[in-house]
Amino acid sequence: MNFLPAGRLKTVSGLHRDKYQVIMKIFSGSANKPLAEKIAKDIALPLSTVETFVFPDGERRVRITENVVDEHVILVQSASTPVDQQYMELFFLLDGLKRSGASQITVVIPYFGYQRQDHVFRDGEAVSLEVIIKILDSLKINRLISIDMHSSRIPDLFPSRIAVSHVSALELFAKKIKHEKWNTKDTILISPDMGGIRRIKILSEMLENMQYAATEKNRDLESGKLEEHTLGEGSVTGKKRAIIVDDMISSGGTMVSATSLMKKYGVEEVHTFATHAVFSSDASEVLQSSLIQKVFVTDTVYIPEEKKFEKLEIMSVDEILGIQLKI
Ligand code: R5P
Repeated sequence: MNFLPAGRLKTVSGLHRDKYQVIMKIFSGSANKPLAEKIAKDIALPLSTVETFVFPDGERRVRITENVVDEHVILVQSASTPVDQQYMELFFLLDGLKRSGASQITVVIPYFGYQRQDHVFRDGEAVSLEVIIKILDSLKINRLISIDMHSSRIPDLFPSRIAVSHVSALELFAKKIKHEKWNTKDTILISPDMGGIRRIKILSEMLENMQYAATEKNRDLESGKLEEHTLGEGSVTGKKRAIIVDDMISSGGTMVSATSLMKKYGVEEVHTFATHAVFSSDASEVLQSSLIQKVFVTDTVYIPEEKKFEKLEIMSVDEILGIQLKI
């Protein structure tokens, strides 16, 4: 799919077999407008407006005020905190777009909330991720674009009628690591759990096979409380610097605990990279006061000023997502 300036007619082929004329528009929910604005700029479209009204009881009403009849529409909404509210807004916007005549809908969900609940951990639990997928399917989306989902198997859970583009921020991380001149001799990449091994291997390949290791962590399934990290695979002996890479930081507990382990092994400098800065409760304070030297995250989740801290550096995923919209 090639891009033309806003408002021009163009031919789209790709997701659907037939070629037909569409005008493309991009909309955003309220979760992460700054990122949506950057993506819109990257693809040379203005961000279209939507009306959102919140009633005194908390219910939301959304309204599409632009003509989308027979158009291919892109909708950007991160399902970050408050996750249920962001999802409800997304669902209402999708319904509004469909009822207004949109012919194709591409949803960009940079942070896909509920992705960690992708299977039954204990008897009687719901598979929340599957419920979200069912709702998106019932709202007739054509394509989903998301970044660094918790597991590489998540796209397979979507019905085949929804095209899923699962992209990664690892190239951004590799670029930053190269820019910092953190060389392979002194530096080791660390996955803070065994589930992140695949991610760390890919990053290692991007960095001339930088050495990597994985720590092991266990959580109490009832309380969610983290048990102390141990070294699971590989060795950090003789390394000056560790770079811990994860898909998300929520409470900050995982990063802080893995950092303590690195310090126990005599690693001098620890830096962390995570795609999604969920930053729940007092994560910002926890990370700032930790032994971590620098916390690198992306802007998949909007970080308000009060959650920013000195050690934090935010990199934008706009181009990674924008490129997908040009395909
Ligand atoms: C879990 O498996 C994820 O990959 C992250 O490690 C986790 O969500 C981080 O959470 P927290 O910051 O609360 O330790």
